[in-house]
Amino acid sequence: TQMKVTKICCIGAGYVGGPTMAVIAKKNPNITVTVVDVNQDRIDAWNNADVNNLPIYEPGLAQIVKETRGKNLFFSTEIDKTIDESEMIFISVNTPTKTYGKGKGMAADLKYVELCARNIAKVATTNKIVVEKSTLPVRTAQAIKSILDNTGSDVKFSILSNPEFLAEGTAIQDLINPDRVLIGGEFEDAIEVLANIYASWVPQDKILRTNVWSSELSKLTANAFLAQRISSINAISELCEKTEANVNEVAKAIGMDSRIGPKFLKASVGFGGSCFQKDILNLVYIARSYNLHEVADYWEQVTLFNDHQKRRFADHIVNTLYNTVSGKKIGFLGWAFKKDTNDTRESAAIYVADYLLNEQASISVYDPKVPAKKMQSDLNYLNTRSVSENEQQVTVFSNPYEALKDTHAVAILTEWDEFKSYDWNKIYVNMKKPAFIFDGRNLLDKTEMIKIGFEYSSIGQ
Ligand code: NAD
Ligand code: UGA
Repeated sequence: TQMKVTKICCIGAGYVGGPTMAVIAKKNPNITVTVVDVNQDRIDAWNNADVNNLPIYEPGLAQIVKETRGKNLFFSTEIDKTIDESEMIFISVNTPTKTYGKGKGMAADLKYVELCARNIAKVATTNKIVVEKSTLPVRTAQAIKSILDNTGSDVKFSILSNPEFLAEGTAIQDLINPDRVLIGGEFEDAIEVLANIYASWVPQDKILRTNVWSSELSKLTANAFLAQRISSINAISELCEKTEANVNEVAKAIGMDSRIGPKFLKASVGFGGSCFQKDILNLVYIARSYNLHEVADYWEQVTLFNDHQKRRFADHIVNTLYNTVSGKKIGFLGWAFKKDTNDTRESAAIYVADYLLNEQASISVYDPKVPAKKMQSDLNYLNTRSVSENEQQVTVFSNPYEALKDTHAVAILTEWDEFKSYDWNKIYVNMKKPAFIFDGRNLLDKTEMIKIGFEYSSIGQ
């Protein structure tokens, strides 16, 4: 007999846990979904009466939270109680790159996942299905199972791997209309219980069942392939700049080959986000741990090239501004790692800023969704200079025209749509001359910018 799920607990109210559970709740009105977290501030923000002030900005999210919160979607810090009341528990906590000890800078830090497993083992009094939602190294389910199976009680645990493929900025769209849902497990019963929850809105042929290890490894592989495409086109962008080929034209030409496909071929200042780099480094670490050095080197190059691309963009700014930016003001448009999100983790903007600050530039920033204190803490986290120096050298504005006033150059770091419709004539008039634009997203119309009078350069053209 199949277990019937009436209550779900999700541990981790972050970029994945929040939106994913909101959609599961919306599509399964008969299931009570409670998202728990150790972070009281984050839970309070999820419970904010004003749904436009949730801790995470995603188009469409506020509406779903408005419809479901308090009905069958809840946010709470009562972790133990919620775990024990639920038949199914998602683990959706962060799995950052280790910053200490063995595997420092490469391996995924699994301490939060392990804490969740131990917490579940400690408080569960009835059988549970435990779902790995976090991105985990292949064979992590083994470790979780070993913790859960050694509690001394007779509570039974089934472990499933159900990695999440949503991208930030399009999370709700990706969740409502996924390319596929992947469920890895050992036992068919447990797999089908989870498949049924998704089947409320996802067609059966898009719900893929595999063994646990394939599922875990598919997630790392998907991110590695996606990031590889960006590094590939970015590598070509550098060659374009030397040869008068245009990377947009090259991308279009190759993308029309149905075997290559048109998506994810936008040359840029470099990919950011919390996952690509972390997941590739993790893949590299795993390969090395099996002594597969050729495999490791192959994938490592994707992140090494990405570092080069960010550095190259910053270098180009310095070189173009007559080899010095000391005392000059550079205006940043965008700080988020991509448009339509307030997330800044691993954003190229942080690294470009850090580099220019080392060259003694001062930076003025405008981003439509990222608060000033987030930008400052991103820079402070790098520990390159003191907190007060960062505060002195970086000024954040809530108006783009103010941010760009009296600057020597504009650098576009995020592809926010609104940047395209600015009054660029007005921006030009208020800048120092010659007025430079460094378009790290190939967002603006080159001909138009040159016509206004800008010295315009972009990626790969
Ligand atoms: P996040 O940092 O936004 O959220 C994680 C949350 O877990 C935090 O709020 C933290 O307080 C909470 N937490 C940590 N340990 C806890 C514990 N022991 N008990 C209760 N709460 C705890 O992270 P995220 O971006 O949502 O990512 C979560 C996982 O999903 C990661 O493994 C990531 O690789 C993966 N993933 C992320 C994305 C994305 O777009 N961000 C997409 C797919 C997969
Ligand atoms: C990525 C994947 O797309 C998701 O499928 C995955 O679930 C997620 O990682 C994860 O595991 O966290 P995300 O990082 O949110 O999603 O956003 P992407 O749209 O993939 O963009 C990542 C970075 O690559 C951004 O900085 C973006 O600007 C850059 N990018 C993307 C390019 O430079 N060029 C492109 O053509 C596409």
